[in-house]
Amino acid sequence: MDKLRIKSKVEIEKMKRSGKAAATVLKRIGEAIAPGVSTADLERISRETIAEVNATSSFLGYQLPDHDPYPATICTSINDVVIHGIPNKRDVLRDGDIIGIDSAVSIDGYHGDNAYTFPVGDISPSAERLLKVTRDSLYDAIAEAKPRNRIGDISSKLQDGAESQGFSVLQSFAGHGIGRSLHEAPEIPCLGVAGRGLRLRPGMVLAIETMVNIGLSDVEMAADGWTITTLDGSLSALFEHTVAVLSDGPEILTGSSLWEV
Ligand code: MF3
Ligand code: CO
Repeated sequence: MDKLRIKSKVEIEKMKRSGKAAATVLKRIGEAIAPGVSTADLERISRETIAEVNATSSFLGYQLPDHDPYPATICTSINDVVIHGIPNKRDVLRDGDIIGIDSAVSIDGYHGDNAYTFPVGDISPSAERLLKVTRDSLYDAIAEAKPRNRIGDISSKLQDGAESQGFSVLQSFAGHGIGRSLHEAPEIPCLGVAGRGLRLRPGMVLAIETMVNIGLSDVEMAADGWTITTLDGSLSALFEHTVAVLSDGPEILTGSSLWEV
């Protein structure tokens, strides 16, 4: 992870462009999600949209320590897959599934990162509740991304929002600062204590993300070295926005009509 860098007004303007582009990719994919569609089909839509908005994928070829380079432009995480599912022809969506899509792109050297979990057709009431609780907790957390607050104020909202409904948050992955690098300091865990941690300052840009399981928080990695699934097989959801900390409060850079209720 690269070091924390405070962004100027000009840089934040640039990040609005990459944020909007990343949001457009998610929206287009959301419009295509339906029973019978494969995750390879969604990858194709992602590549077409990235080209159309003149952006570059932040994920394709991305190298985590001790991993093979990531082979796609989106992560497609179905049902008990928490994060980093790799698109492929065999994963065909079925009525009742939920699918988390994670998309990050860069424009003019700055990244935007966002994720959204979509229902496929009719989903169960418990899946419905998981999506609502996870998404609401992200918005409650984003509201804390203002000067003088601390990272723990964000993290505790993510944790409390999920746990108050009997769900659990992931402990082994976290949100992150973002800018010229996809991953910059600080780390933003999905769990924490209000009033603790690094103090927020205007010009910080944060990719705030949360991953919530209906069951236990334990996860395992598949043999492909990427795909993370829940150990108990329970459903998992993720939502993520890129957010600028401005002097008058948070501004979501990856907002789009997709997120409107
Ligand atoms: N949004 C996730 C993250 O910030 C996705 C990473 S996928 C990878 O960690 F391909 F880039 F590794
Ligand atoms: Co991210």
